[in-house]
Amino acid sequence: MPRKGRGPTGSLSRKKWPGGILSEVRHVPVLLNEVLDFARPVLTRLSAPVILDGTLGEAGHTIALLKAFPGARVLALDRDPEMLERARARVSSAGLSFALSTGDSELPAGAVVSRQLSFRFAADLLSARGLRADFILLDLGISLYHLRGAGRGFSYNDQSLDMRLDSREGRTAAELLNHLPVRELEHIFREFGEEPRAGRIARAIVGRRPITSATQLAELVLREGGGGGRRRRIHPATRVFQALRISVNDELGALDEACRTLPEKLAPGARMAVISFHSLEDRIVKHRFRDLARSRAEEFELLTKRPIRPGPEENRANAPSRSARLRVLQRRG
Ligand SMILES: C[S@@+](CC[C@H](N)C(=O)[O-])C[C@H]1O[C@@H](n2cnc3c(N)ncnc32)[C@H](O)[C@@H]1O
Repeated sequence: MPRKGRGPTGSLSRKKWPGGILSEVRHVPVLLNEVLDFARPVLTRLSAPVILDGTLGEAGHTIALLKAFPGARVLALDRDPEMLERARARVSSAGLSFALSTGDSELPAGAVVSRQLSFRFAADLLSARGLRADFILLDLGISLYHLRGAGRGFSYNDQSLDMRLDSREGRTAAELLNHLPVRELEHIFREFGEEPRAGRIARAIVGRRPITSATQLAELVLREGGGGGRRRRIHPATRVFQALRISVNDELGALDEACRTLPEKLAPGARMAVISFHSLEDRIVKHRFRDLARSRAEEFELLTKRPIRPGPEENRANAPSRSARLRVLQRRG
């Protein structure tokens, strides 16, 4: 979809970094045909398969899956309650049934039952319901809505600096920037953003506290020469914003836990597909899936020896899909 957690958008990126600009808040699910192709052999042989969409977003993948496999039962999660509301509208306008669940309500065929929860806990949720999944999808990152409309600090234009997907959990980006020691900020920018000027930017932030808005942060990073070399294709603050978002939401921790626990919840013959958007995410998926396929080869098989990437047509039509990588694990039948 034209959104992903690549670079935030905003006036700072508008003129010089066209790759960071998304013309309208219009959802296009990434690698959709490939996801459907991997789901088909599993889902066509079952009358009411269970699909777990761990990152519902605007429900693009879920709607397509339900249309292709009308008897499926979808359990869908998103950490962000605003996204669940957006998904509800999309699913309903596609003529499909959508319910927001807080308990262990039934999963009706042909419908989406959603829940505000991190996919980190999805395996526990399936266990509590006594379910195994026939197809699991994680489409990582954030949505175009986060970048363009949420006003929570994901965009360089935002006057706030929160970045939490679930406002009930964790510290905001502003709290981290204004309270962490310089070494920790440097570590975040280096580890989660691979930002070459991590130390310099961290020192500048500490010297300019308080940092209260995304705009202020983006301007500061721009002044400090963030983003590295001159031949950049992304906005100079992209790496710092990505690093903060990952840290605020513990995105890598959640992914690692999901890749460790969710394969155990696959039914025989079922598949788990993960779409990642940067090397830190992809590395986790690659290692977890590869280790499982090696150490328990009689139970698990890696269906993607190399990650699946979008073709040139998708890249052209949906620029933010360019960094997408899909890896798929199968539990042997
Ligand atoms: C890239 S979007 C998904 C788009 C979706 N596949 C679609 O087609 O509309 C990622 C979504 O996952 C959510 N998200 C990110 N981390 C999450 C987590 N740990 N648990 C649940 N949802 C998460 C974000 O709020 C966002 O809505």
